Amino acid sequence: MAGVTESFYDRVGGEPTFRALVDRFYEGVAGDPPLREMYPEEDLGPAADRLRLFLEQYWGGPKTYGETRGHPRLRMRHAPFVVTPTQRDRWLHHMLGAVDTLGLPEAEDAELREYLVRAAQFMVNAFE
Ligand code: HEM
Repeated sequence: MAGVTESFYDRVGGEPTFRALVDRFYEGVAGDPPLREMYPEEDLGPAADRLRLFLEQYWGGPKTYGETRGHPRLRMRHAPFVVTPTQRDRWLHHMLGAVDTLGLPEAEDAELREYLVRAAQFMVNAFE
């Protein structure tokens, strides 16, 4: 597909780009004990898949997330976790660092960062 109807997902390179983003993000999480401790599973692989499939769907790629997990309801799904502004900042630090490594075109880079900052703020559900 080409031209103005092409999705953001396609414009940034499709699945390999989202895989790279999420893999780098989780490398950061794995090396950040206060953040890592929030993730219930010993293996971060399944959490990485859920985040990748969600982001792919959000940006116009395959709808696998919805088919396997249902409606995202992300704020509700984060309710069991104490997401403070400090944890948000840790999450964003690793995620925006992962975006840095993608080398996206300027417009897509800015759009992705704005979304992530907004989404992370939305997930805050506790204050220190
Ligand atoms: C603000 C800081 C955030 C923290 C500390 C956080 C933490 C977590 C934790 C601990 C989980 C459970 C891991 C698992 O899937 O087993 C999770 C799941 C998830 N998070 Fe976050 N998260 C944050 C922000 C976000 C944002 C901004 C997004 C989306 C843009 C997001 C998307 C997801 C998705 C899609 C799942 C899996 C939901 C499902 O079960 O289907 N998270 N998060």
